[in-house]
Amino acid sequence: MTNRTHEWWKKSVVYQIYPKSFNDTNGDGIGDIPGIIEKLDYLKELGIDVIWLSPVYDSPQEDNGYDIRNYRQVDDLFGSMKDLEQLLDEVHQRGMKLVMDLVVNHTSDEHPWFVESSKSKENPYRDYYIWKDGKENGEPPTNWNSVFGGPAWQFDEQTGQYYLHIFARKQPDLNWENPKLREEVYDMMKFWLDKGMDGFRMDVINFISKDPSYPEGLEGDGSPYFMNGPRIHEFLQEMNKEVLSHYDVMTVGEMPGASPEDARQYTDPENEELNMIFTFEHMDLDSEGDKWNLKPLNLIELKENFEKWQTKLHGTGWNSLYWNNHDQPRIVSRFGDDKTYREKSAKMLAICLHMMQGTPYIYQGEELGMTNARFENLEDYRDIELLNMYEEKKAEGWSHEELMEAIYVKGRDNARTPMQWNRQEHAGFTSGTPWLQVNPAYPEINAEAALQDKHSIFYFYQKLIQLRKEKDIITDGNFELLMREDPVVFAYKRTNGNETLVVLCNFSDQKAGVAEELIQTIQAGSVVVSNDQEQKNRGVLEPYEGVVYSI
Ligand code: NOJ
Repeated sequence: MTNRTHEWWKKSVVYQIYPKSFNDTNGDGIGDIPGIIEKLDYLKELGIDVIWLSPVYDSPQEDNGYDIRNYRQVDDLFGSMKDLEQLLDEVHQRGMKLVMDLVVNHTSDEHPWFVESSKSKENPYRDYYIWKDGKENGEPPTNWNSVFGGPAWQFDEQTGQYYLHIFARKQPDLNWENPKLREEVYDMMKFWLDKGMDGFRMDVINFISKDPSYPEGLEGDGSPYFMNGPRIHEFLQEMNKEVLSHYDVMTVGEMPGASPEDARQYTDPENEELNMIFTFEHMDLDSEGDKWNLKPLNLIELKENFEKWQTKLHGTGWNSLYWNNHDQPRIVSRFGDDKTYREKSAKMLAICLHMMQGTPYIYQGEELGMTNARFENLEDYRDIELLNMYEEKKAEGWSHEELMEAIYVKGRDNARTPMQWNRQEHAGFTSGTPWLQVNPAYPEINAEAALQDKHSIFYFYQKLIQLRKEKDIITDGNFELLMREDPVVFAYKRTNGNETLVVLCNFSDQKAGVAEELIQTIQAGSVVVSNDQEQKNRGVLEPYEGVVYSI
């Protein structure tokens, strides 16, 4: 039985804020919490229900706050605890909710637990992290590579052992096998929920259980031994029992390498783990091997992937729906056309995603159709992943041009350029020097311009959000893929009782035909939403057209 009051997140649309790049009020070039408060009415106007705030905790900012030094303190960069409490209060006053980022696979190496842990093998905090002896020949305990390049183990001179860091050297992995550590994490979670926070987005949460035998990875790939590990369900169930079940909150677990079958287990309410997860499968289709090895998107693969997630979770678990976040390039530049058809394709992509079952996530600037940035100089980039990758692949023989091309297409800084508020200098983001340059497209693409144009992408998102509120078929209906073999049209049907929606999206800059058998069906239907203002021949889709019919 679904219980709507407790499952409010099923009817919600989430908006992600990357604080560093959202809105700066003190002129230091870095976004801050007062800056978010200033823009809450903008978000209310958009119609979103929940804000997910990327980390604002005290941090050395090696990985923009995903390296936490103190879980219970706000970083001075962003403001104070008072500012955060005010933000929460103002979010609630406007009838919205606030979800925090929970980063507990690892901490910063400057976290006091790690500082203690490194002091000696006997230190009471030693076991909070994963320390191991090297191999007999002195090599690291396993051949695993870190996600950000280089080995995943760092040797520590003082105690003569290695510690594990799946991400940067300054992000040591926590040891979840240790019940004391788990309790500390649960206590910290309660600290935030007792303040009134409405849930957590959990960073790489399916990495917390490692295979205790620490096997060698194929070509250094340790992921089979730390993704969806042996005790993961046990840990999440314990977290649920100890913490989550006592609050009316939402949870979404970031889970690279999780299949729809895994997702069912994580999100089936009977298992009492999480509400939903972020899959990576649809985001991995335009590369081969690692994300920098680019390949063109095959739309049929994308369609079949969504079909799999939509159908396998229907009736059991719950999907999250996303095109963008702070780790992904801008969707309009990726699967759309950020030049001739920028507005058209941004709206089409929005339709395609927002008519599915699940909880949609909008990443800051997506509602403006913000595009990838192309900075000429490597020095203008800031992301640790991208900079490490450059060095590593350069050494493997990639040319500078190839590397820059990969960065233009896949670099995380594409998503992290400052929010474009208006035409003023630095897009109105800051009165100082922005920590990462503003995308030069800002004079045309900005919030002020969008709010003045009733046909803007902003108002299109507003409409899609509203539709989700009005039409239960969007939240509840089942999903059927149509025109399966068509290489450019993504078409699907949603059905709920005797109600039907047909969604047609043209992913190309050419006209595309609608399947014969569908034309008849849609002739009788009415247009629910469309990115094409002209009503015309229903048998043909214009370039990047997206349209929804109610039958
Ligand atoms: C996933 C986060 O989204 C990403 O930004 C971060 O670098 C890694 N996890 C490590 O925390």
